[in-house]
Amino acid sequence: MSYDELADLYALQYEDYSGDLDFYARLASRHGGPVLELGAGQGRVAAHLARRGTEVWALEPSAAMRRRGEASTRGLPVRWIAGDMRDFELNRHFPLVIAPFNALMHLYTLTDQNATLERVASHLNTGGVFAFDLYNPLQIKADGALRLEGRYGRIEVYYRQEHHPASQRLTTYYVIDEAGPDGVLKRRHNRLDQRYFTRYEIERWLAGAGLVGRVAGGFQGQPFSEKSPLMAWTARRVS
Ligand SMILES: C[S@@+](CC[C@H](N)C(=O)[O-])C[C@H]1O[C@@H](n2cnc3c(N)ncnc32)[C@H](O)[C@@H]1O
Repeated sequence: MSYDELADLYALQYEDYSGDLDFYARLASRHGGPVLELGAGQGRVAAHLARRGTEVWALEPSAAMRRRGEASTRGLPVRWIAGDMRDFELNRHFPLVIAPFNALMHLYTLTDQNATLERVASHLNTGGVFAFDLYNPLQIKADGALRLEGRYGRIEVYYRQEHHPASQRLTTYYVIDEAGPDGVLKRRHNRLDQRYFTRYEIERWLAGAGLVGRVAGGFQGQPFSEKSPLMAWTARRVS
């Protein structure tokens, strides 16, 4: 799916999200750059790493997301690339490849997942690390109710989530209400589709491509459990 229509909403919702920044910055200082970021969005993580002196190659397919990313990283060592994580060739290896904030949930089929991991492995140094974070599917609480997500000035965002366990999919429907200066309500609708992964599904997926994965239940290395909000993965390419 394309983020072109979600780009302005994404900026309102997540511009200030910072829970994962230290995790990726620690990995970048341990492994060095350049770092390849898959699904770099509007440059939230790329800008953080680049401000700390790490060069980032930011791969992002959505033109609207990339435009915002280019603006937010102007003057920083970030190289933006229009591309798809399932099918890219950069003709170099990286010590660290990252896919922050559920970016891999846009891989909807086994073919998409395997193609991406094959591309990641072939761009990683031997001993290099692939790091990513994903929802913990055991924490999904999609009850179908329409809820307020947030208020951003004159804009109110509501959302409703549907969980489809048999296809491991989560669909989020957004209703975006904005009162114009004349008081007239403008209502927009958006939809976000995500495919979630289970813990051992990921371990086996990584092992199939020669990577050894370790999962934590948070960005400070907390043990993973059914109560963890997310899975923070680091996977080393061993062959
Ligand atoms: C949830 S956002 C995360 C953005 C950014 N990593 C962050 O942490 O703020 C997911 C991003 O993945 C991108 N994306 C979706 N499908 C993709 C694909 N096949 N290849 C590369 N990126 C993709 C979207 O366009 C979107 O910018």
